[in-house]
Amino acid sequence: MNTTNPSTILVIDDDPAIRKVLSLGLERIGYQVRLATNGREGFDLLESEDFDPDCILLDIRMPVLTGREALPRIRERRPLIPVVMLTAFNDLATGLEAMKNGAFDYLVKPSRLEQIEETIGRAVRYKRIIREKLEQDRKSEEYRKTLELTMESRTLELNETYEKLKAANMQTVQVLAETIEAKDQYTQGHCERVRKLSVRIASKLGMDKKQIIALEYAALLHDIGKIGIPERILNKKGPLDADEIEVMKMHPLIGAQILSIVEFFAPAINGVRHHHERWDGKGYPDKVAGEDIDPLARRSSRCFSRRSSTRITSEAGMFSAAQNL
Ligand SMILES: [Fe+2]
Repeated sequence: MNTTNPSTILVIDDDPAIRKVLSLGLERIGYQVRLATNGREGFDLLESEDFDPDCILLDIRMPVLTGREALPRIRERRPLIPVVMLTAFNDLATGLEAMKNGAFDYLVKPSRLEQIEETIGRAVRYKRIIREKLEQDRKSEEYRKTLELTMESRTLELNETYEKLKAANMQTVQVLAETIEAKDQYTQGHCERVRKLSVRIASKLGMDKKQIIALEYAALLHDIGKIGIPERILNKKGPLDADEIEVMKMHPLIGAQILSIVEFFAPAINGVRHHHERWDGKGYPDKVAGEDIDPLARRSSRCFSRRSSTRITSEAGMFSAAQNL
């Protein structure tokens, strides 16, 4: 027993002699003792004061409120306090029944002090272990909540940083798109319009956020390969000759090569490469057909055929579709 902070025992018994004997005996072995003369008084003591005994000795037969009646109330209000029933010599069945109803143990009156000390010692240790376990659980819960809050705040910070990075990337991409347009006088504002329309189409088709971001990059940068096309071809007044058309057809490949330098653009590369492919395989540069075309650069003829007066047999990219709208 911890003598610096002695455990407290509440003795509830109507017999003054028993109270006296138990009180003296328990105090002699180092316990603090509080006394009550019946179940009601004991229960009121537990209710009215900031009183947290380490064990309750509860007599069964008492006036006003018997131990049998007081036990469930004590268990309900103070479930952590072990209750040891005090039973008469010829009333063992009641002691056993009380244990079934939540009593920690029972002692038969009169018991030897050693036996009382042993039983109370077990009860006090039990209470201490339960209290320590609860304290540990409380600390673990507190730690878990703190960790959760820290994680939430870190996630928030990360999300904010990610959003800033995303916005910065998008700005860079927009600047790149403007660079293309500055070179090609026929495409002023074209990339931004294609991006907006592509995103609207993709949202209608139920594409997820990640795919839509890749689509935005692909839409804004689909013609970035035009950087590698001579300006005399890009801005030529009148139709291009066969050789010039072949040079012009290089721009999806050049665009894909430019994007392959930056890992961040990886999901958009094939969308850019395939933006002039056709569902029937008659597009360029790879002449791939149908579902071999990158999903970002593919559309279902059913989705857009209502907008066309003729039957659409070829498939172009979502942003190619947007270009046609
Ligand atoms: Fe193009």
